[in-house]
Amino acid sequence: MKNGRGYRLWDLMAFFYDQFFKRFPPYQKLQKEIIENLNNSQNPADLFLDAGCGTGIMSIELAERGYFVVGVDRSLEMLERARNKKERKRLDNLIFLERDLNNDFNLPEYSFNKIFMIHSLYLMNDPKAALQKLASFLPQGGELVMCNPCRRLTFKELWNGGYSFIRESTRENGILSILFFLPITLAMGTLNFVIQHRKKKQIFHRWEEKEISDLLKSCGFQVKWLEESCLANSHLLLCAVKG
Ligand SMILES: C[S@@+](CC[C@H](N)C(=O)[O-])C[C@H]1O[C@@H](n2cnc3c(N)ncnc32)[C@H](O)[C@@H]1O
Repeated sequence: MKNGRGYRLWDLMAFFYDQFFKRFPPYQKLQKEIIENLNNSQNPADLFLDAGCGTGIMSIELAERGYFVVGVDRSLEMLERARNKKERKRLDNLIFLERDLNNDFNLPEYSFNKIFMIHSLYLMNDPKAALQKLASFLPQGGELVMCNPCRRLTFKELWNGGYSFIRESTRENGILSILFFLPITLAMGTLNFVIQHRKKKQIFHRWEEKEISDLLKSCGFQVKWLEESCLANSHLLLCAVKG
């Protein structure tokens, strides 16, 4: 399947994605919070879905802990990077598939215990339809872990985010590495800005606590826990249970 117009931005983003998020402290904090909140009694044989998996950062983190994971994304470039990492790490309990969550996609051969949807629901044309579809993959009591923006970032917060990435990167690789990392920061910042403002082609949703709780309720989920997360606490990380 050929990627369409609206998909190309994510294909482009794939070139910088790992370089950026490997060294972006708010994203690492989020990842740590998600892993810490994994139920200790979770059966390692459980099957997880990573919906909108990108380059597979979360999928790989989970697979390395022994869980079986299916990562889906519609960007072929993101998927290619995810698959390369999987090969390099020789993870047999992980598979990446091309799926468009805006369409009526299927994963018929799998029955999931938990779904992760990190930074992806807000990009859906119809988030309610996507959530209903995801709910259909879970049994009663199955969990959905999500992180979505709840407000706009101020320019100062964006600046601080970019600065923290540059600081981490140069600390790790020496001051001259700024020549490499500064263009990445500018590219990621610009692409993010474009995605947020492409009103005609792509919708960028934000939900405050009550709004996301109501949306989840209308799709058969009950929020189990919820906390502010990510850059300047501009996102809500939550776990919801299918009733
Ligand atoms: C901000 S990235 C998040 C990636 C990953 N979850 C993470 O936290 O690193 C958003 C991802 O959603 C994917 N995406 C956007 N719209 C999608 C759709 N309709 N179907 C499947 N994936 C989609 C993009 O290709 C991109 O990889």
